Amino acid sequence: MRMTVIGTGYVGTVHAACMADIGHEVLGVDIDADRIASLAAGRAPLHEKGLDALLARGVEAGRLRFSTSLAEAAAFANLHFVCVGTPQRPDSAAADLRYVDAVVEELGPHLRPGSLVVGKSTVPVGTAARIGRRLADLAPGAEVAWNPEFLREGRAVDDTMHPERLVVGVGSERAEALLRAVYRPMREAGVPVYTTDTATAELVKVASNAFLATKISFVNAMAEVCDAAGADVTVLARAMGADSRIGAQFLDPGLGFGGSCFPKDIRAFAARAEELGAGEAVAFLHEVDRINTRQRRRTVDRARALLGGAFEGRRIGVLGAAFKPGSDDVRDSPALAVAAAVQAEGGAVRVHDPQALDNARAVCPDLTYALDIPKACEGADLVLHLTQWPEYRAIDPAALAGVVRTPLILDARNCLDGRAWGAAGWAFRALGRPARS
Ligand code: NAD
Ligand code: UGA
Repeated sequence: MRMTVIGTGYVGTVHAACMADIGHEVLGVDIDADRIASLAAGRAPLHEKGLDALLARGVEAGRLRFSTSLAEAAAFANLHFVCVGTPQRPDSAAADLRYVDAVVEELGPHLRPGSLVVGKSTVPVGTAARIGRRLADLAPGAEVAWNPEFLREGRAVDDTMHPERLVVGVGSERAEALLRAVYRPMREAGVPVYTTDTATAELVKVASNAFLATKISFVNAMAEVCDAAGADVTVLARAMGADSRIGAQFLDPGLGFGGSCFPKDIRAFAARAEELGAGEAVAFLHEVDRINTRQRRRTVDRARALLGGAFEGRRIGVLGAAFKPGSDDVRDSPALAVAAAVQAEGGAVRVHDPQALDNARAVCPDLTYALDIPKACEGADLVLHLTQWPEYRAIDPAALAGVVRTPLILDARNCLDGRAWGAAGWAFRALGRPARS
């Protein structure tokens, strides 16, 4: 099948490369000419496991091409996946739909009769219906469907090739048949497809993210109670998670969630529900958000207390800048937020990350960065573990103790082996766990 993928960020690049790999002919389109040039040369503009190989294969086979022209996109295919960003609006908590709307306005007049525009971006419920009304003017006969994306950064290729489910919101049997054909290899591999109306499809996406965010904030709220009670939140989370009705995933307590999606998605969901008169039903999401941002403050407060009440004149080695391991994404990264807050209070901060340093430099140019872990921790009075990269779990605490000034570490991600660090002479501290040494 021929299709275009409009917006080649995380979602679009991965979707385009995966669609080409399962045999479709794909044109990726973006307004960012540098990005398109890099993609056309088979180079991914982001770090994602397996993506480079997939891209190179698609480009080489001639099944994957790139362009900056939406007019070319309309001429290339009748099937268009829209993957542009839907960030938080600068002036409110709602989603900023200007990129989605710009695509509709620019693509619409060029669309061939019978074209299907499929949204993958995360949008407020009702967006597909609104776009459908606009396309009725711009491109009579064109149709809109919504096929939300559930991939996780760091596992994006695998999530796209082997999703746990597909959700397609459609308004006609023809649209349903087209999308079933697109995903035939996944369906044949047994992936369930939930076919529904566009409003339900839009809502499945935001409800899923809201649920996952709530789970994380729940366990972080428990970490606060554990701190107050002298209990251990990591044991609590494991024991709770052993109940299959609760489940162990997304119960990792620590610094909380960041990234380009959870924070803005729960805010946009609450804002849209308020517009619809259902704000009370999801008012708890404001609390989920507050608990989450409080973890960043709690981490800074704990770090300051460990240093005797002030950061001034102290060296702090920071392990991690990405919003999560396996990704070079620093958008709304809790790790960078903490590093910046510590520096703002006079701490001499040096940040390490295995993948995200270039992006971190672009967002926080005033921080100091280190290319390896010992350099980040050299002479440190405190080490902050802020992103749970496997590289940090592999650190030899005895060796690192020889590099710092004071062997004191705060594990804000609750995944280092406190006993091993303690045995190597470190004072090991964590959020929601009693001190061990
Ligand atoms: P992104 O910011 O990485 O990429 C968006 C791309 O769209 C950019 O390259 C931008 O240049 C391009 N763009 C903007 N306007 C355009 C236009 N008029 N024509 C063509 N291209 C245009 O965004 P992302 O992280 O890929 O997210 C895209 C959407 O998918 C969002 O709604 C997001 O919430 C959702 N989503 C993201 C993820 C994720 O893990 N990143 C997962 C699931 C869903
Ligand atoms: C998340 C969802 O998992 C995807 O299904 C969804 O498609 C995507 O958002 C989206 O809509 O953009 P992602 O943001 O890539 O994916 O990363 P996650 O693995 O979900 O982690 C999100 C944040 O939560 C990270 O900062 C992570 O460190 C944090 N987290 C995760 C915790 O603090 N504790 C946990 O137990 C799990």
